[in-house]
Amino acid sequence: MTMTENGARMLSCALAPSILTANLGRLAEEIRTAEASGVDRIHLDIMDGQFVPNISFGPLIVETVRAATSLPLDLHLMILQPDRYVPAFVLAGANHITVHQEVCPHLHRQLTQIKELGATAGVALNPSTSLSTIEDVVEDLDLLLIMSVNPGFGSQSFISHSLDKLRRARALLDQRRSKADLEVDGGVNESTIASVVAAGATVCVTGSAVYNRTRSVADSVRALRLALAEAPPQ
Ligand code: DX5
Ligand code: ZN
Repeated sequence: MTMTENGARMLSCALAPSILTANLGRLAEEIRTAEASGVDRIHLDIMDGQFVPNISFGPLIVETVRAATSLPLDLHLMILQPDRYVPAFVLAGANHITVHQEVCPHLHRQLTQIKELGATAGVALNPSTSLSTIEDVVEDLDLLLIMSVNPGFGSQSFISHSLDKLRRARALLDQRRSKADLEVDGGVNESTIASVVAAGATVCVTGSAVYNRTRSVADSVRALRLALAEAPPQ
């Protein structure tokens, strides 16, 4: 959010394109184009075929992305036992690492491991997971990720009641005076971005809204920024 002269708030957020739907045959170019279009971080969806029904990529691809950009790399680990892989992902160049609450019986220990290795630490919640599950680690969070689709695939539709969860997450972070980012992931596009930012999101993951092969990456990023600029001040 940014303030206007008369105290109204203009909608703004960091954009984090997910490379899941990018053309992986031209990965470096896809990332450089996004960087040149003014995005803020690159989101990498790491899937293990266990926690989610899809397999994506591991540390080698993270290293390749690291070599292609100086933007922060935002890793979303959709894997069981993330503690086994966090060191390799940090070594490969991850800046922000988010684990799922659903796979971490020792969430505080997991967040501590990530931070001790030098990355910032986030927790993601599936659409069906209650916000109350992270109440006792709010002070330890650099980022809270609200999933607005069931994780596993790109190009799914935004689950509309995620908006209410985002508002409640915003209220929780504010109430605890947390400076953690509030990230939203899944179905964020030109039609939904203004409402998720108005609900309090500070980082928007956009997969198919940026990498979609029907429009250039630059045009897609411009359209997202325009949707925010044209939304009424809050
Ligand atoms: C889903 C992933 C998302 C996905 C977003 O499991 O976490 O990051 O790639 O893609 P869109 O924006 O197309 O929903
Ligand atoms: Zn993601």
